[in-house]
This record gives sequence, structure tokens and C-alpha cells, in this order.
Amino acid sequence: MKKRKITDTGNNLTTSRKQSHVELVVSEQVSFRQTSSGFDRIRFVHNALPEIALSDVETSTDFLGKHLDVPILISSMTGGYEAAERINRALGALSAKFGAAMGVGSQRQALEDKRFHNSFKVARKANPSGLIFSNIGAVEVARLAGKGKTASIKRIIDLVEADALIIHLNPLQELLQPEGSSNFTGVLNGIGKCVKSVGVPVIVKEVGAGISKDVAKQLLEVGVLVIDVAGAGGTSWAGVEILRQKKKLRSVLEPFWDWGIPTVDALLQVRELRESMTFGIISSGGIRNGLDIAKSIALGADLVGIAKPLVSTFMEGGEKSLNKKMEDLITQLKYCMFLTGSKNVEALSKQPLQKF
Ligand SMILES: Cc1cc2nc3c(=O)[nH]c(=O)nc-3n(C[C@H](O)[C@H](O)[C@H](O)COP(=O)(O)O)c2cc1C
Repeated sequence: MKKRKITDTGNNLTTSRKQSHVELVVSEQVSFRQTSSGFDRIRFVHNALPEIALSDVETSTDFLGKHLDVPILISSMTGGYEAAERINRALGALSAKFGAAMGVGSQRQALEDKRFHNSFKVARKANPSGLIFSNIGAVEVARLAGKGKTASIKRIIDLVEADALIIHLNPLQELLQPEGSSNFTGVLNGIGKCVKSVGVPVIVKEVGAGISKDVAKQLLEVGVLVIDVAGAGGTSWAGVEILRQKKKLRSVLEPFWDWGIPTVDALLQVRELRESMTFGIISSGGIRNGLDIAKSIALGADLVGIAKPLVSTFMEGGEKSLNKKMEDLITQLKYCMFLTGSKNVEALSKQPLQKF
């Protein structure tokens, strides 16, 4: 394992935190240790008579009124410090090249000052007509709502000309973060106010601890249009924050490393709400290959998000490796579609899955 190097940018707290997150995720082992996302527990029914040609397989889809060539989301990751500009430019270019959606990382820093606005703007510049999402945390939403200022969130949406706003719920991460907040009061109310004032659809996600059926129901009832379950089994944000803590505190926090609802369980719970409500589902948290993408779609997801593998690939191998990574994911997805006789995403969404 590479030696951990945490950069002190000499800038404000949000700026240096965002930079240290990328550095830690790339250089340290930050996966869940015992919890699997659950995709290894299920498999497709093999179709020995698919009656299609691989060349017939079509991966395109529509989401929030825009066309995508693949049902893939480059999950929200970074922005708000100088070096993030290079990362978001590359991720934006990746989304444009492959027709995928992209979320920029938390834009809290952009609300604090203008220095690194460009690190967010580059995503839209790289993909002028694609599906791009803004991002802000739940604590910030509650704080702004408390002051009657949710409309100021419009500024960060305008910054990337976003098609939708993603709000991330991260109580576990905030709790374990050295400089985090342990006050989550007023979050649901704040999200409800955002829905009414920001003028674009609101998506709510976790960051790797999952969204339960009950939480999703409350969110949908205040007008949220899409739930990204962002479940456990991939990057452990408890793990990342534990590594950022002083050594003497780590042993107290270690038992939380694997906290969360596995992605497959969160998907199974949240999709039950589709019996009575209409909304979009994004599957993410531990998506590591095209089979996980295909299984997510068969479990009800409209879009499938990937975070850590993409930023790690870019930081270690540059744009060429990043493009190859995406090509591989799409090849695996297509092979899965061929082997289940699914000509398109809609047919894939109807495929039965079996437990191992
Ligand atoms: C370096 C890095 C930074 C992240 N920053 C954010 C963020 O600012 N906002 C957010 O909603 N999620 C953030 N996430 C969480 C991801 O969007 C995702 O929910 C989580 O990492 C689980 O996906 P994975 O297992 O594919 O990494 C970040 C993830 C990574 C790897």
C-alpha cells in the first residue's frame, strides 16, 4: 500500500478536506471490511437461447428528460480546490464521451467563496449538453433552511447549469469526521423547502450507508423525485473519516467502519415504494463491474452510480486508463445483456434474478 500523504493546502477547512478525501481514497484501503454490497448474493438466470446478436444490444436510456448512451452515473466526488479542476474536467469529458451522467462533488466550498468555482464549472464545459448534477450536504441544507436561505442554493446549481440538485445525507460521515456536525435536526424540512425553491428536480443520496424504505418514503413525501440508495459495500466513509482522526480516537470509532445498509438490500426496500409512488431510483455504493450495473437495473434502478473506481483509475493512470475503465464496464454490461437475451435496458429491467 502506498504511504498516505495528506496535503495541507493552506486554504479553508472545506477545501483541504475535499482534497484529503481524494488522496485518502486513492492511497488507502477504504473499502468495507466485512459488508458486501450484496451483488455477489444474486445472479441472473443464464439464457442459453438468447436469440439476439451482441451487436443488437442497446444500452441507451432516458433520465430526467435527457438521453444517455449508458445508464451510468459518475457519482458526485469532488471540486472546491485547485487540483480538483483537472479531475472534474476529466470526469466531465468521460461523461461526454460515453454519454453518461455526472455529479460534481459537494459545492459547499463554492457557497463559501469564489476561488475555486472553476473546479466545478469545468464539468459543464466538458459536457455542454449532458446530464450534470449539483451537490450539497444535508447539514448545509438544514442550516440554510433555518435562515430562510434555501434559494441561495440556486447559485451553485447555476454554476454548473445543473439539470438537478443532489442532496447528500451523511450522518455517519459527519459524526465520525473530525470537523463534522452531529446535528441533523431540520434536514427533512430543509429538503422540502429546497424542492419548492430551487427550480430543478431534487435527488437525495447517501454516501455509502444506504437509504431505507422508511427514509425514502419521507423524502418522496416532501417532493424528492429520485432516490440514490448509495448503500454499503463499496467505499466506507466511516473508514475514510476514521483514517482522518487522531490515532487515539480511532479504536473507539473502528466498530462503525462497516455500518450501513448493503446496496442490494436498500434497493429491494426502496423499490417496494414503487407500488404506490412514481420516482426514479439510482443504485450506487460498491458498483465494481458491469454485472453489478446490470443486476442493479434488474433490481429496479434507472441509473447506476460509480465513484471510487473512477477517481482512483484517473489519479493512477490518467485519462487513457479512465476511458479504458469505462469501456470495460460497458463491455461487461453488454455481455450481461446478451447472456440474458436483453436487447435493451427495458428488457434487462425485467430479467429475473436468483439467490446464490
Ligand atoms: C473521493 C470521493 C469524494 C466524494 N465526495 C462526495 C461528495 O462531495 N458528495 C457526495 O454526495 N458524495 C461524495 N462521495 C460519495 C460517492 O458519491 C458515493 O456515494 C460513495 O463513494 C459510494 O460509491 P463507491 O462505492 O462507488 O465509491 C465521494 C466519493 C469519493 C470516492
